[in-house]
Amino acid sequence: MSSIVLFGPPGAGKGTQAARIMEATGLPQVSTGDMLRAAVNANTLTGIEAKGYMDAGKLVPDEVIINLIKDRILEDDAVNGVMFDGFPRTIPQAEALSQITAVSHVIAIEVPDSKIVDRICGRYSCGGCGLVYHDTFNPVAASGCDCGNWQEKRRADDNAATVQSRLDTYHLQTSPLAQWYKEKGILHSIDGDRAIDQITGDILVALE
Ligand code: AP5
Repeated sequence: MSSIVLFGPPGAGKGTQAARIMEATGLPQVSTGDMLRAAVNANTLTGIEAKGYMDAGKLVPDEVIINLIKDRILEDDAVNGVMFDGFPRTIPQAEALSQITAVSHVIAIEVPDSKIVDRICGRYSCGGCGLVYHDTFNPVAASGCDCGNWQEKRRADDNAATVQSRLDTYHLQTSPLAQWYKEKGILHSIDGDRAIDQITGDILVALE
């Protein structure tokens, strides 16, 4: 079993690309952000603990995240590997992951900070299927999402103040992981400041 990691700053396009890679590879997407938002909505103990960190643009403590992943990886659909989206985000998380499953590719989607605020503040998604859209760069069709269950959803942490804090957190705690994975010879850097289709094409080549 071998898994892949989608890595990059907030708003880099990890979720957007995950939906496409999932279609091409069959690997299920495991997004710690989505898992945490589900826990917050369900008002579980994990959700109650995570909410304050998420609203402030800070990282949820490593042990909470690692326990979520340990449980998720035991599910039936993970038997042939998964595509991690937004995990790991710290060196301790990466070290824990290396004990849980083999990682064959880390895809680092690179986007300059100057593009991130616009991307995040214009983001919305379909509550029916989870597909991600953007007011300007990737709007939903006038008839709604192709899934047929269109409901517009916006995230509580998608505002300019929290984005800056999320970017600061990324540079301080998460970006050092790129070097960590580079030294392991499995980091693939992709220019994420281009059209969505071009980026998908390069990721699929990197995964070949
Ligand atoms: P999480 O949900 O993981 O958020 P994030 O990493 O901040 O990433 P985003 O989901 O914001 O962005 P994305 O890269 O998926 O971009 P998207 O495809 O949507 O985490 C949220 C919070 O949970 C964290 O702040 C933290 O508190 C906590 N958390 C989660 N995981 C954790 C962990 N492992 N450890 C500790 N805490 C954790 O695209 C963004 C927008 O841009 C969209 O509107 C899209 O349509 C548009 N777009 C995409 N690609 C392009 C393109 N090429 N050109 C133009 N626009 C584009």
